[in-house]
Formats: sequence, structure tokens, C-alpha cells
Amino acid sequence: MTLEEKVGQLNFVVGDLFNTGPTVRTTQSDKFNEAIKKGEITGIFNIHGAEYVGKLQKLAVKESRLGIPLLIGADIIHGFKTVFPIPLGESASWDLAAIENGARVAALESSAGGINLTFAPMVDITRDSRWGRTAEGAGEDTYLGSLIAAARVKGFQGKDLADPRTIAACVKHFVAYGAAEAGRDYNTTDMSEYLLRDVYLPPFKAALDAGSATLMSAFNELNGVPATGNMFTMDQILRKEWGFKGAVISDWQNITEMVNHGYSKDHAQAAEQAIKAGTDVDMMGEAYLKYVPGLVKSGKLDQKILDESVRRVLWLKFQLGLFDKPYQYSDTKREKKEIRSKENLAAAFDMARKSIVLLKNQGNVLPLSPQVKKIAIIGPLGHNKADMNGTWSFFGEEQHAVSFLEGIKKYAKGAEVTYAQGCNLYDNSTALFAEAVAAAKNADVVIMAIGESAVMNGEGGSRADIGLPGVQLDLVKEIHKTGKPMVALVSSGRALELTWLEQNVSAILATWSLGSEAGNAVASVLYGEYNPAGKLPLSFPRHVGQMPLYYNIKNTGRMYDGDHSEPGSERVYKSRYRDVPNTALFPFGYGLSYTTFAYGTPRLSKNSITGQETLTVTVDVTNTGKLAGEEVVQLYIQDLVGSTARPMKQLKKFQKLAFAPGEKKTISFTLNTQDLSFWRQDMTFGAEPGDFKVMVGGNSRDVQTLPFTLTAL
Ligand code: IFM
Repeated sequence: MTLEEKVGQLNFVVGDLFNTGPTVRTTQSDKFNEAIKKGEITGIFNIHGAEYVGKLQKLAVKESRLGIPLLIGADIIHGFKTVFPIPLGESASWDLAAIENGARVAALESSAGGINLTFAPMVDITRDSRWGRTAEGAGEDTYLGSLIAAARVKGFQGKDLADPRTIAACVKHFVAYGAAEAGRDYNTTDMSEYLLRDVYLPPFKAALDAGSATLMSAFNELNGVPATGNMFTMDQILRKEWGFKGAVISDWQNITEMVNHGYSKDHAQAAEQAIKAGTDVDMMGEAYLKYVPGLVKSGKLDQKILDESVRRVLWLKFQLGLFDKPYQYSDTKREKKEIRSKENLAAAFDMARKSIVLLKNQGNVLPLSPQVKKIAIIGPLGHNKADMNGTWSFFGEEQHAVSFLEGIKKYAKGAEVTYAQGCNLYDNSTALFAEAVAAAKNADVVIMAIGESAVMNGEGGSRADIGLPGVQLDLVKEIHKTGKPMVALVSSGRALELTWLEQNVSAILATWSLGSEAGNAVASVLYGEYNPAGKLPLSFPRHVGQMPLYYNIKNTGRMYDGDHSEPGSERVYKSRYRDVPNTALFPFGYGLSYTTFAYGTPRLSKNSITGQETLTVTVDVTNTGKLAGEEVVQLYIQDLVGSTARPMKQLKKFQKLAFAPGEKKTISFTLNTQDLSFWRQDMTFGAEPGDFKVMVGGNSRDVQTLPFTLTAL
């Protein structure tokens, strides 16, 4: 290979993108033909179409000197043409098999549509919901996030990357992107190595252990050094400690952005720093294309480093089977058969129902009774197909999404269903209020369909105020004055501030962005065909000022768990706010059901263990209601004294189980020393003998606690 051909293998470019309203769509063009023939690009992303991709592959294979096939990448974040719930929504299912299946369906469809590499899963831990990309991750918890990361990788990649029905995963964004200061996208991150290793790194490790073929470097700088050129995280941790041998792909122009960060003096230096740190592929920066040949010729860059990057990219293409069968992702017959198949839509429906979280159900207003004869659906998301698919759904056509109105009409046999928009998603006009109030007055039950649009989250979608946008809360208040029972369907890509709703409406369902089958899934839950079982993967705040908010906080010297409004509390010199409690409005792991579950007193197999022993925690859980339902039984621990202070609670195990009415199940969890381990003060990973608490419950707040001791390692 010539120097130029080598560098071409590191240059990844985007297809044409254009905006049509809230969703970005891709189109096809011949603008890359010459570059492909010259071997100047390794792949194109965010294009699709078996036939189109086949044409491009032919140019690469037949008309470039070396005949190296192309990577065809895409952000297949939650489905392809069949759109699944946004990842945050899927994570609320706590159902690893369903999540893996969602990724598998995404792989089946997108590979049939010409794609062989997805830029997913996003595994960034998100503790601050102002950050728009919260929508794309698994929420705030490292343990849950790690399991979900692995499930997604397995779903995308299957058992054999060379199988044309699988695609390569690209775990992203390495690393600490989710900790952007103040939740502002692309912002600085600064954290201790303990926090990095205990909280932010494990989901990446889990994804790589599950076989993720590639990894994407993050936009942010970490402790002063941009992630893309960060020798500590990229070289020391990723390559040396973890032994990752796959290709690292930069994020969009984040190599050249190292100049903006004030870390590189120009694009040439940025290219040198990035490739030396181990960033193999330059996405849209063209810095490698322009400067790497010169860097090698001038001796600033050892050719071996370039060769290593090229080798990793070629290895990826080999693993994908591209050298043997370059057209295997260009099967138009399979494309027709696979895309939006009945089975795929059924899987999306199943996942959408599993993602819904019941946050409130006063007086059992849900499921809707057959006596409800008149339903008014009110709100800007009531009959809004464009926003059902959510952020990062380039390929899902909005006309195929089932709106809430359409879904509810199908299920509301015999009942009259009316719809009034009430207001727009985010302007301040109240012109439509009167019509909505009239519709509410004429109804037995009002279903408010409110929340965020797709573009209010995702990349660049940070918000300083995470309440309902525009005049939506004013609309809810107006409708509330009618005195009608109100059910709020709250769609969002983050934890929203829902304090007023929690105090005033009868029922609340977190409905995220549920994808193609949104309306059917919501109707199935509203009518009790499906009993909701989702649990929050992140804490919902009482007020945006609590951000970052997460359940696994550490204690302070002066923790205060009282109510800020207690008399005399203004004189309390404690760690608290003067205006809201410290706690979440709806805590991590929280979610109701149409039935109820009673927890017996947990039991331990012993009160103390050594490092070689395991501890069994057993609890009886009974379905005390009249309906079948599922419960996610959660186990948390606290290490009371550590060489670095430990969180007051950490999720360590969970089981999601189905219960018939009245059924009692005995559930056991086993803990070992690994579960008690953390990054100790001397920067080694392991447990420390001492006293612990184990906590069991149906969410992170309502738990029963037992003590035990780790006597020795
Ligand atoms: O994959 C994404 C990434 O997550 C954010 N920037 C753009 C990339 C390619 O679309």
C-alpha cells in the first residue's frame, strides 16, 4: 500500500444529509465516486439501500487499485426502519433479553439495508438530565448500564460478524462524555481517576468484553486532555490495560476540534496527537488525509503507528467478511423481506410496552374501565407521528409510526375518542387552549399527551430547564380546572421535572419516545392488556437545580434527610437545599404496576463471609393484587467504611420476574467479593474487609436493610 492508500483507509465520510423538519434524512449521491476509486476513503456513513451500497462497493472493489471494500456505517441507535424505543426507554424495561433482541432486529434490518457498522451502543453514564444525549444511554447506573451495554453488543454482532445479518458495534463515547459540565453538550469534564474507573469506564469494558468490534472516542476533554488525544484513557487504559485490539473511530471532526479545545496548535498537530493516542479512523475531519503523509515523511510520526491503525481497520473489514463477500450486505431480496416485517414490528411493540413506566395511579384510574365512554386526548404529542420515533431515527419514516390517537382509537372499542392539540410543543401560544378545554369538559377521562419533541434531545439537545417545554404545563393546569380525571403520557429523552403533575393529575406514564409502535403500546397499557412493569433507569428530580442527581450518592459530613419545610430548618447547617428536599421525586428503579407486590423480610445465608465465600440473600415476594404482573426485585449494597468513601447505595443484582395473582416467589441473589470491590485508595481494584449493608426492594428508595461483615479477603 502507498502512504496515501494507507491514510485513505483511515478516512471516514458522511453521505449527504439534509433536514426535513425534525428528522435528518439521508439521500444518495455520486459525490464520492472519484474518492472511492482513488482509495481515499475507508467508508461512508449514514447512507443506506442495498442497491446503492452495492454500487459503491463495486466501485471500491473493481475500480480502486487495491480493491478494498468499504465500511458502511450508520447511527443505528434504536432500530432501522422498524423503530424501537429510544435506548433510555428500552433501559426502563430492565429486560436484557428484550434489549438484546431489539439490537438484533436493528442489525437484521440495517444489514439488509446495506449497513455493516453501527455507531452504537452509547454507554455513557448520565447523571445530569440537562444533557440531551441522556436519551441514548442506559441512564445513571453503572451496573445496569454495563449489562445493557453487553446485551446491545451481542444483539448487533450475534455470534459471527461475518454473518451478513449482523453488524459491527462501536461502543461510544470514550470516555466521560456523559459527565459534561452543567449538562451542556460537548462541555468539559473533570473527574478523579476513582470516579472514572468506578462509574464511567465499566460499561465500556462490559461492551468490549462482549466483543464490540470498534469504539468511538468522545468529543469532550477529560481533565484537560481531549478524549481523542488522551494517552491515559486511550493508550494506557484501553490498549494496554484492557488489551483492546479493534479500531477506534473518532467522533465527527473531534480530531480537528482539539485545536478549539486549546490542546493542539493546528490540525497537523491534532492529527499527530490523535493517531499517537490510538484514534485509528478520522470521522469527517480530513486531518489524517491531509497531514498524516507529511507527518510520516518528516519523521514526526513513526510509520509503524500508521500501519497499526490501518491493520486494525483492515482486520475489521476481514471480520465483517467484506474481503470474501463484498456484496453480502447488498441483497435487495432480503432487504424487501426483512424491513418492517411483521415479526420486527411485533418485537418493537413488545419492547415499547416493556419500556413504559407507571409513575402514579391514584384511585386506580388505570387501566381504563369499559365504563369510560368518552376520552379526550389533549396535547401536542396526541397525534404527532413525527415525534414518536425520537432522536436518532434517521431511517424510520414517520408516516409509519402509530400515533397515540391512532393506537387508542383501536383499543377504545365503543368509546368516543376526540383529539385536541391544545398547544404546540414549544412556543408560547395559548390560542388552542379553549378548544382543548371544551374537549375535556365533554369527556369522562382526559389523556394528556405532553413532553418533548425528538429534537429536544439527542446530540446538541441539552436543556437548562427540564420541565415541560413551552406552555404545556399551563395547558395541563387549564384542563385540570375542569375537574376531569387526568392521565398524563409524558414523553421525554431524559428525566423531566414533573412536580406539579405528580401533585395534581391522577395518573402518569413515562412514555419516552417509543418508536414505530408507540400508539399501540400506550393503548395496550392504558387498557390493561399489558400490565406496566418498567422501572426508571434514572432519578426524576423535584427541581432542575438538583442536577446532577443520582441515587448512588456518597454521604457527607452533614447529610440531611429531613424536609426543608420543617419549622426551624432554616437554621440547619446541613447538606441540603433550603427550598426542595435532596431526594428524587421518582427515584431510580421506581415504577408501579396495576397489581401490588409485598416483600417479606430478607434473609442472609450468614452474617459474615471471607473473601473466598459467597453470601446468599433471599427474599419472598408476593403478588398481593388481582392481576398478573412483573416485578424487578433489586439488591443494593453499602460498604460502610472504605479507603475511599463509598456510595450509600449501589445496585449489585436484580431479577425481573412474572407473578400470577396471589403468587409468592422466593428469590435468591448471590454476592461475592467481586460485587464488593471498588478502586481503592492505592488505585488497586478489590474489596476491603469491614461492615456492609445489603438492601432489597422494588426501587432504590423503598428497601429493607440487613448488615453483614466481610471478615477477611
Ligand atoms: O455517531 C455519532 C456520534 O454519536 C455523535 N456525532 C456524530 C456521529 C456520527 O453520526
